[in-house]
Amino acid sequence: MANLFQLINIHKTFGSTTALDKINIDVEQGEIIALIGPSGSGKTTLLKMLNAQHSPTSGEIKTSNTPISSLNQKQLRKTRSKIAFIPQDLGIVKNLKVFQNILLGKIGTHSTIAMLWKFLFPPKPELIKIHKILERTGIAEKLYSTTSTLSGGQQQRVAVARSLYQEAHTILADEPISSVDPARARSLIQLLIDISKESNLTLIMSIHNIELAKEFFPRLIGLKNGKLQFDSTSVTQEQIKQLYQLSDKQLAQ
Ligand SMILES: Nc1ncnc2c1ncn2[C@@H]1O[C@H](COP(=O)(O)OP(=O)(O)OP(=O)(O)O)[C@@H](O)[C@H]1O
Ligand SMILES: [Mg+2]
Repeated sequence: MANLFQLINIHKTFGSTTALDKINIDVEQGEIIALIGPSGSGKTTLLKMLNAQHSPTSGEIKTSNTPISSLNQKQLRKTRSKIAFIPQDLGIVKNLKVFQNILLGKIGTHSTIAMLWKFLFPPKPELIKIHKILERTGIAEKLYSTTSTLSGGQQQRVAVARSLYQEAHTILADEPISSVDPARARSLIQLLIDISKESNLTLIMSIHNIELAKEFFPRLIGLKNGKLQFDSTSVTQEQIKQLYQLSDKQLAQ
């Protein structure tokens, strides 16, 4: 398998805060990875490193064996256009129609005028394409709905559909399940994993729910205070306990 991302001795500080500390991680195309760790452990910072929203204070990130720091603006835009990012708040504009939110997936690759035109007068082939994607995410009938009228779970599906429209090779999802009930969280994870497997996408998702992480993700990366605690296909209760510094009593609950 091809090496998609390589994080080499990554260090990231914000002022006096160390967010990431000597991180070494390799990711291959098609891997399904959960990022776990307590609040403030560096999960979001790590995800933002992968799509070059943050640059490391020291160390190097390579994507497809090319250092991100060596890319010019145009190359960087192209690289980023292939990496979808689903933020915690899903990053959707609620007063836009669903199809318009999907169109936003390619905002970086169009001029403003072209984008505006597409927004107002979406070409039929584009709408057919978006409809097909919405079928895959189970909300095809919502193509023309105003996004705010959708349920929370349906809005998550809009965010997933936008990543697919973007034709990304990687989906980075930053705790997209925190505000929904367990059944919805489970179905969103299932959807993301199914879609990633179908299209050989790489999925890296930060997730607080350890049980779901263990159940669904073949590779688990644990961060604590910016340090890599483990990077493994299976984690023990002891490792989880150390990661969150829980007492035995809390663990039993
Ligand atoms: N832009 C920033 N400016 C200053 N400090 C930051 C910034 N981004 C992150 N940090 C700090 O870096 C550390 C890691 O933050 P990060 O957001 O990566 O944690 P996290 O694991 O995603 O936490 P959570 O589970 O709460 O989302 C924290 O101490 C945070 O305060
Ligand atoms: Mg975070």
